[in-house]
Amino acid sequence: MMNCLQSWPEPVVRVQSLSESGIRAIPERYIKPPSDRPGFEKQEHVDIPVVDLKNLFSHDHTLHEETLKLISSACKEWGFFQAVNHGISHELMKRTREVWREFFNLPLEVKQEYANAPTTYEGYGSRLGVQKGAILDWSDYFFLHYLPVYLRNPSKWPSLPSSCRDLISEYGAEVEKLCGRLLKAMSISLGLKEDYLQNAFGGEDIGACLRVNFYPKCPQPDLTLGLSSHSDPGGLTLLLPDHDVAGLQVRKNGKWITVKPVPNAFIVNVGDQIQVMSNAIYKSVEHRVIVNSAKDRVSLAFFYNPKSDLLIEPAKELVSEDRPPLYSPMTFDEYRLYIRTYGPCGKTQVEFSESNR
Ligand code: OGA
Ligand code: NI
Repeated sequence: MMNCLQSWPEPVVRVQSLSESGIRAIPERYIKPPSDRPGFEKQEHVDIPVVDLKNLFSHDHTLHEETLKLISSACKEWGFFQAVNHGISHELMKRTREVWREFFNLPLEVKQEYANAPTTYEGYGSRLGVQKGAILDWSDYFFLHYLPVYLRNPSKWPSLPSSCRDLISEYGAEVEKLCGRLLKAMSISLGLKEDYLQNAFGGEDIGACLRVNFYPKCPQPDLTLGLSSHSDPGGLTLLLPDHDVAGLQVRKNGKWITVKPVPNAFIVNVGDQIQVMSNAIYKSVEHRVIVNSAKDRVSLAFFYNPKSDLLIEPAKELVSEDRPPLYSPMTFDEYRLYIRTYGPCGKTQVEFSESNR
């Protein structure tokens, strides 16, 4: 299997170039089967929970407990919430998003210097998965390693705009801290020791990557998706959405819900590894992205992951006779190979590990 990950199975086409070429009809390889298209089902008009983190580490016991309860019910019922009063500078969020928008607006030749390969996925990419003939998503992205430090290589990060590398470092340091706080809150609210999840992720040696998504305007948005349905394979995701273009949809009771981004909020979601460690008390939930014909959309997904060679399994404290372990131990490296080979396909992987116990 490793062998087929050396290079892309077909020549890479930048979706942004297609979009800017002025075509009226999208190429066939971006056309989804009818049941996957955005308009297939009626939309549900509810919102994902909004959690105010102001009191997360308050010394007022009641307020603190209150916040933990909100996080816990959001992770159980939705696998998603929007976090406000998270402590990260709104100015930094805005500058980081805008520098990436500028990067994607640079000439193609500049971006091509960072063209990625499926061996590490690092760099400028336009597909996830290496299946020849796969139907592709309407997006380009930039993927980089932030942690562990020995994998961090700023020379692989964009050198233009000139502030890009510094902003990635500054932004990374802040979101890493916030992820650590959220992991603590999740541990406590699962009834575990506050450092349980962080330690199970590898303590100081955790992994973290940034995936910046660029969803170009699309002449036929009803026929395609910006990102197909998937759950995030890692631990915890902190998404900085576009401030004025919606697009993210979350699966709830079999329906798709379009998230309305709250100004300056982060969208937090549970990844497959927390579903595994919590023995499915917390859920990683399917989500996807729709595109539109009027505006490009930029989003930054920061993935906070277990160290790649640790065995991840349900916490012993959350396993009992009544609640046997739902998953067998697996390393994150092994786990991630699936989405990197087959591309985004709903929750098939975590469900597959359940049925194979
Ligand atoms: C992702 C993701 C959502 C978005 O990158 O895994 O789900 O809104 N992104 O771009
Ligand atoms: Ni995702």
